[in-house]
Order: sequence, then structure tokens, then C-alpha cells
Amino acid sequence: MSSDNMFGNNVTKNIESTLQEDRLFPPPDGFAAAANIKKTTLAELQQQAKQDYEGFWANLAHQELNWQHAFSATLDSSNAPHFRWFYDGQLNASYNCLDRHLASRGDKTAIIFEGEKGDTQQLSYRQLHTKVCQFANGLKSIGIKKGDRVVIYLPMVPEAAIAMLACARIGAIHSVVFGGFSAESLKDRIEDAGAVCVITADGGHRGGKIIELKAATDKALANGCQTINHVIVLQRSHHDVAIDTQRDIWWHTLVENQTEHCEPEWVNSEHPLFLLYTSGSTGKPKGIQHSTAGYLLNAIVTMKWVFDIKDDDIYWCTADVGWVTGHTYVTYGPLAVGSTLLMYEGAPIIPDAGRFWKICQDHKVSIFYTAPTAIRALMKQGDQHPNRYDLSSIRLLGTVGEPINPEAWMWYHTVIGKKHCPIVDTWWQTETGANMIAPVPGAMATKPGSCTLALPGIDADIVDEAGNLITAPNQGGYLVIKKPWPSMLRTIWNDDQRYIDTYWGKFEGKYYLAGDSARRDDQGYFWIMGRIDDVLNVSGHRLGTMEVESALVAHPDVAEAAVVGKPDDIKGEGIFAFVVLKGQRPENGIDDMLTQELRTWVGEQIGAIAKPDAIRYADNLPKTRSGKIMRRLLRTIAKGEKITQDTSTLENEAILEQLQGKS
Ligand code: WTA
Repeated sequence: MSSDNMFGNNVTKNIESTLQEDRLFPPPDGFAAAANIKKTTLAELQQQAKQDYEGFWANLAHQELNWQHAFSATLDSSNAPHFRWFYDGQLNASYNCLDRHLASRGDKTAIIFEGEKGDTQQLSYRQLHTKVCQFANGLKSIGIKKGDRVVIYLPMVPEAAIAMLACARIGAIHSVVFGGFSAESLKDRIEDAGAVCVITADGGHRGGKIIELKAATDKALANGCQTINHVIVLQRSHHDVAIDTQRDIWWHTLVENQTEHCEPEWVNSEHPLFLLYTSGSTGKPKGIQHSTAGYLLNAIVTMKWVFDIKDDDIYWCTADVGWVTGHTYVTYGPLAVGSTLLMYEGAPIIPDAGRFWKICQDHKVSIFYTAPTAIRALMKQGDQHPNRYDLSSIRLLGTVGEPINPEAWMWYHTVIGKKHCPIVDTWWQTETGANMIAPVPGAMATKPGSCTLALPGIDADIVDEAGNLITAPNQGGYLVIKKPWPSMLRTIWNDDQRYIDTYWGKFEGKYYLAGDSARRDDQGYFWIMGRIDDVLNVSGHRLGTMEVESALVAHPDVAEAAVVGKPDDIKGEGIFAFVVLKGQRPENGIDDMLTQELRTWVGEQIGAIAKPDAIRYADNLPKTRSGKIMRRLLRTIAKGEKITQDTSTLENEAILEQLQGKS
């Protein structure tokens, strides 16, 4: 395959590096013997799911969730692709994460928190329950009710989980916005969700700086967001912020006189638990809508199957609550199974690149889950950092967010895992709600760079352009899920049609289209090759090229922009922008001052993660005669590679010289 194949992006690089990868890592004996799911159990689960798909999920839902009213109907496909699971049951997510643990493990630590400055805090299940009830009562006291949307814009502090659970307790639908997103992004999300309240903080600590969350909220609300009635402000950084007494309430004031009891709002299984905005192929992020019961079920079973969670584990997932991983594997999953989770507020390199490893040592972390970009960045800083710390408590490692290159996998395995910890490379998406393709670590061997096999009850496959299954090994195709599963997204908020078109359109409702390309090797192991749409994966964060382009063209000097991904050793993908200005093109296509200005501009429009790494200015973009921008060509140019594609369909071939920075 050439880089010009139908799947574009980083496909060639991934295939080249992973095709030679035939190392196999069986589970260490001790690990396999003690695992929640042993080889025979896994085979049984796979068999049950195959024989009676709905029965398989129904059994698990009865077993794993506490129901206020048990369900009798498992899967309703009558309005496909708007599937419903367990829809006549009633439950509450916060009850399943808190109340049901109180009798058996009320004094067990639920959350261990460490701030960037080193402050720590521990909350038992009972204390967490109390805080959630008080805050939920506080929300009710200002009129928030079932079905209302509440935007959470907080740093990585326990209150983020408390806010999520309090919303769930009263049936309000939360939508967490990543603290790194700008006021403009926050505003777009508030408006799309029609939220009535924002929960934020004076500021958060990250990278040695204060993130001005309240100031950004004020800015967002100054330009619109008419639906917002209240802003709840958590005191975290303790610096001065503007308070609008008509609208803003301090968190501590809100909970001051609230009782410790709050009866859960029993909701239908399908009641939306949350919305989470994520990038797609257009300039407008999609509000992915998740259900209550189905979502929680997959969160729970994957904690048991993939993370092999045990009662005495100290579990740390480094994701921010602003991403789906921070929902399923920082908050709902670990709490629903009654585990002790660790939460860290800050950056991995403060005060130095040993911070993660120091935290693992200090808190005796046993399960550690992070992103390949963090692994690569820390690997680059050298082994001396992890080697300074005692990492012997770690027994299982995980990765998520992008393909992990075998070199980083081996470093993780050797230097962090000391060769005795399995690595679970978990493939999933905001839309899937929970791990889909991932190792069951005590029951199978892993391979560096492969997310291995689909979990029981998940029917993943690879198809060609026409939707035919690809059975031959090592042939790339579209990754699809052939059957609905409980934690699947239910729709895109306010946009059913986009939901249908994006995920079900290509194969006419037959398969869920994940948006990734993949291949399977001769043992059936999946290898993810990259996105097939115009979505970049920058440091494990999804970002639409169209979003960055829209931000660029919103600048008064910019006439046109095209953005592509460029392979980056640490970030996975970096952002390369080609810009056509309204005025004169700068000499040689370079203008450092303007580039700086545009980078800052994009940071303000979206957030710092979206700032282009490089900008090249041209008089035009390479277009076909029908006006379509040839992005593949731009990708080749961004990589600094020679153009081998056919350029005869280009309307303006001469522009290539300029785009390559040659004139
Ligand atoms: C990519 C993150 C390879 C993939 C949970 C997917 C991965 C997108 C992996 C979803 C993995 C996630 N190996 N690629 N283990 N995990 N991806 O919605 O392209 O932020 O479609 O969810 O990340 O990103 P999202």
C-alpha cells in the first residue's frame, strides 16, 4: 500500500512498523492464576455471547447493576439505529456508584487526590456519598431538575466527579467541557446543549500555571448562552475572580446547609446520563449522547475484564474528566465497581518527568492507565526518572487514545512494568462508551501495537468499501461493529440525522462505522491503522481539521485555510496549516509574526491543543477542477516528502512550488 491509499493519514507508517511485529507476550503465570477472567472463563463468555447475544447482556445487566425496577425487555431495535437497551428498567447511576457500596465498603477509600502542588485528600465511599448528596440538594435548591443540561468546566479535582454524580443523582444531564478548551468552545457547547447551569472553579493548577476557568466562563457567557441561569464556582486556586451576585454562587455556599440525604431520582435505563462533545468531519463538534444503564454496564464489565479490578487495587487512569476516558475510567467505571481510584490534578512533568512515577510509588498504584503520547514523552526524558522510584506495586498497565508504536510499548513493558505487568491496549471511542477491542490480560497473549481481540459481546469486524467482510489477514479495511451493544451512543444531541449519516449511512444501517481503518493479522488480532475521516489525533485528543480551518478563516486576515496532520514523534500527529491570506502573501511563504498571531487566535477559538505547529502561506490551495482541496497532496507536502501522486487533475499545478516552500 502506498500512503496514497484510500485510508490516507498515518496508515503506511503504522503498517510498516507493525507488520514486522511478531513478538508475543503471554500473561505472566502469577497474573493469569489470580486473574478475574481466566482463559476458560473468557472462552465461556465468548461462547455465551455467540449463542444468545441478548441473553448474554441481559444476564450481565441483572448481575452487575442495582435496579429500582428490573427490566424485562433487553434490546429494542424497532427504531434502529436508535437502539434501546433494558428500556423498561429503572435505576440511578449515582446509586450504583455510591449507595450500593455503603454497607460493604463505606469506609473504603473511593478517591485519593493529589494536586499539582502536592496537596492530597482522601474520600471514603461514605464521605463521597455525603458530598454528592449535599451538592445534589444544592443543585435542586437552585431549580435544577431531571433532564436539565448542566455544563461542568472544572479542573481535575474530586469535585469534578462529585458534580457528575450529583447531576446523575437528580437526573440532570451533564456535559463536561475539557478545561483546556477556550471560552469560545465552551460557549458553543453550552449553546448546543441548551444548558441551564455551568459548574466551574476560580482556577485550576496545571503546568505550574493557573488555568483561568472562571474568567473563560465569564467570557463565554458575555457573548451569548442565554439559557444559563446559574454559575456555580468552586474555590480551588483561591485567587480573585469576578463574581456576579445575580448569577454566580460559590460551591461552598451552595452546599452549606444542605442535608446529607438525597433520594436518587430513579430514571429509565435510556435516560441520558451525559452528553460529551467530540470532533467529527465538520467544523461543529457532536454532542454524543449516552444512556444510563447500558453505558454503566459496559463500564463495569470492562473494569472487571480488561482492568482485572480487585478490591485491594489502587487504580489510576491519568485521563482528564473532559474526555470520555475521564468519564468511563476515572469516574463511573471505577466507582461502580467500588474500587479506590487516584486522581491527579496536574501535568506529568511538574516538577520533573518523574512525577507520574513518584505518584505511583507514594500511593502504591497497582493499575496504571495512560495515553501513548504521555508514554512517548516520558520515555524521551530518559529512564533515570522512573528508575528513581519504587514501581513494584504496579501489576497492570494500560494505554488508550491512539495506536501505540512498538518501541513505546516495549519501554512501557520493560522500564515501567519491569517485564511482569501485562499491557492492555484498549481500542474504543467517545461513541462506544467503553473498551471494545482490548486484551483480557490474564487470558491471552498481547502483541506490541495491537489492541488484540474484541471483548465478549462485541462484534467487531473489518469490511471493504462495499461492506464485504475482509477475511484475508493483513488487509486493511473499515473497522465496523456489527451488532448494537449496551454502551453505544444513542444519538447526537439535537441532530438525529447526523447520527444516522455519520455512523450508519455508509453501510446502510447494517454496521456501525467506527471511522477507523484496521487490519487483522493471521491470528485475528486487530491493528488499528488510523482515522479514515478528517479527524486528527493530537496527543490522543480528537480534533477535526475542519474545526481548525473554521477557526483560521474566522481571523480577519485569512481568506482560506486547509489543515492536515503531520506525523509527530511525541504527539502522534501534529497540525500543519496552509493559509491563503486576504492581502499579500508573505515573502517565501513565511511570516513568523503572523504565524504567532494565528496560533494564539486558534488557541482562543478552540483551545491550546488546536494551535497549528506550522503554517505555510500560499496564493491558493491545490484544488481539483471541481474545487475540491486535494488534502492527500497537502499531507505529503507537510511531511516534506516528494510528490508522487498524479497532479494532472489539479487546476493550479503551479501552486505546488509555493506550497512546498520553494518559491
Ligand atoms: C483512536 C478515546 C488505536 C481511534 C477513547 C478512535 C485508538 C479514536 C485507540 C477515539 C487504541 C482510541 N489504538 N487507536 N487503543 N484508542 N484510538 O473518541 O482513532 O477521544 O477512533 O476516544 O481514538 O477517540 P476518542
